[in-house]
Amino acid sequence: MSTVISIANQKGGVGKTTTAINLASSLAMLGKKVLLIDLDYQANATTCLGIDRGSFDHSVFDCLVERSRLADVTLTTDNPLIDVLPAKTTVEGIEEQIILNTNRDFILDTQLKEIKEEYDYVLIDCPPSLGYVTTNAMMASDGVIVPVQCEFLAMDGLTQLLNTIRLVQGKKKINKETLTIFGVLMTMLDSRTTSGYQVVNEVKTYFGEKVFQTIIPRNISCSNATFYGVPVTQFSPKSKSSLSYKQLAKEVIQRNG
Ligand SMILES: Nc1ncnc2c1ncn2[C@@H]1O[C@H](COP(=O)(O)OP(=O)(O)OP(=O)(O)O)[C@@H](O)[C@H]1O
Ligand SMILES: [Mg+2]
Repeated sequence: MSTVISIANQKGGVGKTTTAINLASSLAMLGKKVLLIDLDYQANATTCLGIDRGSFDHSVFDCLVERSRLADVTLTTDNPLIDVLPAKTTVEGIEEQIILNTNRDFILDTQLKEIKEEYDYVLIDCPPSLGYVTTNAMMASDGVIVPVQCEFLAMDGLTQLLNTIRLVQGKKKINKETLTIFGVLMTMLDSRTTSGYQVVNEVKTYFGEKVFQTIIPRNISCSNATFYGVPVTQFSPKSKSSLSYKQLAKEVIQRNG
């Protein structure tokens, strides 16, 4: 059985892509076969998995406008346990094109059903918006991981995200399918200040057990890894952020039962 998880928060820079690539890499280290779907126009996840942006013609966005099939666009990576559905940076009017499709909410879901059973986990890196691209990701998912940065105003915008999740849950219910909040992930905690811990407590008061026990610390290796375009689990395997993502992978597997 495959588990599909969207990594979503419309707030920019909260650690969605970092989580997607490092969770993929950590799940693979635990022997899980993973497909990473890059729905972020910036295509950072694609690059971080060692895919040269000029080396492919079609991206996942061609699938969203039904010009390609997912199976034809999926690429292998250096890691035999990780495949990627790459993004391209230039996507003109994708939202407008999706709106025109009568099957607009289910495009990704329909296509993913054809290939997902080849994988233990499918992780979807969402863009920082709540448009049709993100709804398509959620409609195709069993659960959502919401990264929340341990900073002032962290909860800002979460109501909007929760409303979108509820909307998708309603639509999935029609097909007797569910979408759960798989977990809220606190990211970039600065352990030298108390304010970060205050944010963690505030989020825990609201989300309770949904908050992952694993907290990702703010760590220079993580931003350096982004700079060099590789997962931190590979760039600096013994760094704090790397170890915490490995811990997160274990928690994800445990939650998945
Ligand atoms: N634990 C961490 N420690 C230090 N820096 C981090 C950490 N996690 C992420 N970053 C840095 O924060 C920046 C934003 O992270 P990331 O790109 O993962 O966020 P995002 O939510 O995907 O952003 P966007 O909304 O633009 O897609 C990146 O430069 C990344 O290197
Ligand atoms: Mg991103």
